[in-house]
Amino acid sequence: MTPCEIRWVFNALSWNPTKYQLITALSALTLEEQERIQKFYFKGDYKLCLIGRLMIRQCIKMVLGIPWKDIVLSRSIKGKPFLVNDTNGKKFFFNISHHGDFTVLAASTCSNIGVDIMKYSYPNNTDIFSFFKLMKRQFADEEWSFIKSFKNEWDQLTIFYRLWCLKESYVKAIGTGIGTDSASSIKFKANTTVLKSTCFDSELYIKDEKQPWTFYETMIDEQHVVSVALESSCVNGNVLKFENVAFENLIEGCDVIEPNNCTENWWETYITKGSKT
Ligand SMILES: CC(C)(COP(=O)(O)OP(=O)(O)OC[C@H]1O[C@@H](n2cnc3c(N)ncnc32)[C@H](O)[C@@H]1OP(=O)(O)O)[C@@H](O)C(=O)NCCC(=O)NCCS
Repeated sequence: MTPCEIRWVFNALSWNPTKYQLITALSALTLEEQERIQKFYFKGDYKLCLIGRLMIRQCIKMVLGIPWKDIVLSRSIKGKPFLVNDTNGKKFFFNISHHGDFTVLAASTCSNIGVDIMKYSYPNNTDIFSFFKLMKRQFADEEWSFIKSFKNEWDQLTIFYRLWCLKESYVKAIGTGIGTDSASSIKFKANTTVLKSTCFDSELYIKDEKQPWTFYETMIDEQHVVSVALESSCVNGNVLKFENVAFENLIEGCDVIEPNNCTENWWETYITKGSKT
């Protein structure tokens, strides 16, 4: 199989689905996925999650040629989605993330992969000093020194989010998620101190030993930072840009997995959901 790398981004927050689009999208998911998505309190979270599930299925259909309706997904004990279908020995790794306005997907046929997106924002109901105090155990001393080396609070906050994003992309690739201990034992050194567009020179240290992982960091817009963690070097340092994917592409060739006679209820449920202020 020809090596394949995919990086997709979708602005779910500014997407206002028509009734037809919403019903088509939900029908193309399993009952479990439909129920989970509909439980979200806010429209934004509903859309971010819905787009993520479509991205996973579309990408598997495209790369591995498995028909939409035959794709079987499951989750590890820690919640990481994986493909159950037999791939005839073909390697395929994928991961999604949603935060702020965007949902992103990163997939690779040669390297284990993890992705994380974070929107820069001031913490809710607290000041930065108290927020950092609360997050104390999540970073190593060297990382805190780096954060504090920036003079103004916003710069400290953005580097905090960037380091957090790097960590999340790594723990998502290995599937563990962030635990209380793992967060500070996994240490990052950001060689590009201010991320303006793209870099791939951040280094990961575990117990002070440099790890052979590559981290591709990019700004999706001025407020959203993304990190992609790649285990193997087979990507050859290629910087793969996130490509905006259209809703129509995400549902192209999809099948109805879970027909439902109450689709009118789906629409009512969706339009009555609130929006975050
Ligand atoms: C899921 C986890 C790995 C990342 O959570 P997150 O950054 O909030 O969420 P993201 O949007 O980046 O990723 C969510 C997606 O990752 C995937 N995912 C879930 N568990 C995963 C895991 N253990 N490993 C890799 N991917 C996972 C799923 O596809 C999920 O989306 P879906 O449920 O809609 O399909 C989580 O276990 C974790 O580490 N949480 C810690 C968060 C935390 O402590 N935050 C403190 C405040 S900053």
